Amino acid sequence: MAKTVIAGNWKMHGLKADLDVIGAVAAGVSDCPESIEVLLCLPATLVAAGAELASGSKLEIGGQSCHQAGKGAHTGDISAEMLADAGATHVIVGHSERRADHGESDIQAAAQAGAAIAAGLTPIICVGETLEERDSGQALDVVTKQVAGSVPDAAATTPVIVAYEPVWAIGTGRTPTPEQIAEVHAAIRVALAERFPATGSLIPLLYGGSMKPGNAAEILAVDDVNGGLIGGASLKAEDFLAIYAAAANQTS
Ligand code: PGA
Repeated sequence: MAKTVIAGNWKMHGLKADLDVIGAVAAGVSDCPESIEVLLCLPATLVAAGAELASGSKLEIGGQSCHQAGKGAHTGDISAEMLADAGATHVIVGHSERRADHGESDIQAAAQAGAAIAAGLTPIICVGETLEERDSGQALDVVTKQVAGSVPDAAATTPVIVAYEPVWAIGTGRTPTPEQIAEVHAAIRVALAERFPATGSLIPLLYGGSMKPGNAAEILAVDDVNGGLIGGASLKAEDFLAIYAAAANQTS
């Protein structure tokens, strides 16, 4: 069985004044069972302070992107090793906002995931179709192609997480139906199990896109949904903890 992962993605939100959310979330997950992992992926400026605040608790801290190189002349970029050094345990790669804003490709996402693994981080590899692709019946093709291109071979032996985030559901308040989510997650699971016979069934598959307290229980109950990647609703401790509680209810 894949672990359940409840991961927040603060995106480009959060100042030092918002760090009290970390303490509140850390306190709220003190009863977190072994079968659930809870983490917040913070802007790079807050990773070190967030990791310090979460230290000793069940809350883990992640970054939101990393460069594929270990170090070098890459002004403005951050390496996986730097995130690990700051106390991160996870990093998001291939998010659709990185793909759209910075032209990142499947090849880059796979290289970044590989760099994350080499630095001892667990990559959260994001995939998802646009509305145009869904409306033209290409969702499954697009997503399975992204999974094939963005998940590195190292996933055969090292933990990775995959997040299905339909681009049209991110930050829009719109979500796919449970049937639509189930169809995509099943296709991802089959692709991963075929490619990684030993580990494919253990890779947590997260759903992301307008997940909130009101829809979390329904989404988390879908077959092959092993957790969520939560943007807007991870900014408030109360909302994020309500989603965590929905996951804890289902695994208890
Ligand atoms: P959202 O973002 O929950 O605000 O839709 C999810 C994500 O992009 O990770």
